[in-house]
Amino acid sequence: MNTIPIRTTINGKLFDLNIRPNTALLDLLRDELGLTGTKCGCEIGECGACTVLLNGQAVNSCLVLAPQIDGQEVITVEGLAQGNRLSPLQESFLDHDAVHCGFCTPGMLMSAKSLLDENSNPTDLQVRTAISGNLCRCSGYQRIIEAIRETTNETNKRRTNAK
Ligand code: FES
Ligand code: FES
Repeated sequence: MNTIPIRTTINGKLFDLNIRPNTALLDLLRDELGLTGTKCGCEIGECGACTVLLNGQAVNSCLVLAPQIDGQEVITVEGLAQGNRLSPLQESFLDHDAVHCGFCTPGMLMSAKSLLDENSNPTDLQVRTAISGNLCRCSGYQRIIEAIRETTNETNKRRTNAK
């Protein structure tokens, strides 16, 4: 099959790629770019394990064709940390024991990031709605919700001051 050229920004880095037009974004990230933090669960848009940000919006990367990211900006879970320093959201997941097997965690983090970028102090209901497309088979939802809700500016300041 012929390939097509695309230019895209992933985690702040510009990529010029030649891809098969029927490649899913999930497969491009994992198989061709080695960004395996994004997980493959169902491949039919049901589990949310593959969630990434496309221009700031949480999307199921298994349902996005790679040509759709031409000229767009993608952020994966690998793009959350700053160097060796985890993001406040990731720290909060650890603080709240919100990670069990961890398979859902990258997708949860990306859905939560999309929410918190728009609303730094969400209600319980807003958090539940934001992660409603992310399934956790370990069913640790309550701790995940608490971790997201407590990733507030105040929490971030406290953490920064403590370091
Ligand atoms: S792998 Fe994409 S939603 Fe499940
Ligand atoms: S922590 Fe295991 S699936 Fe969510």
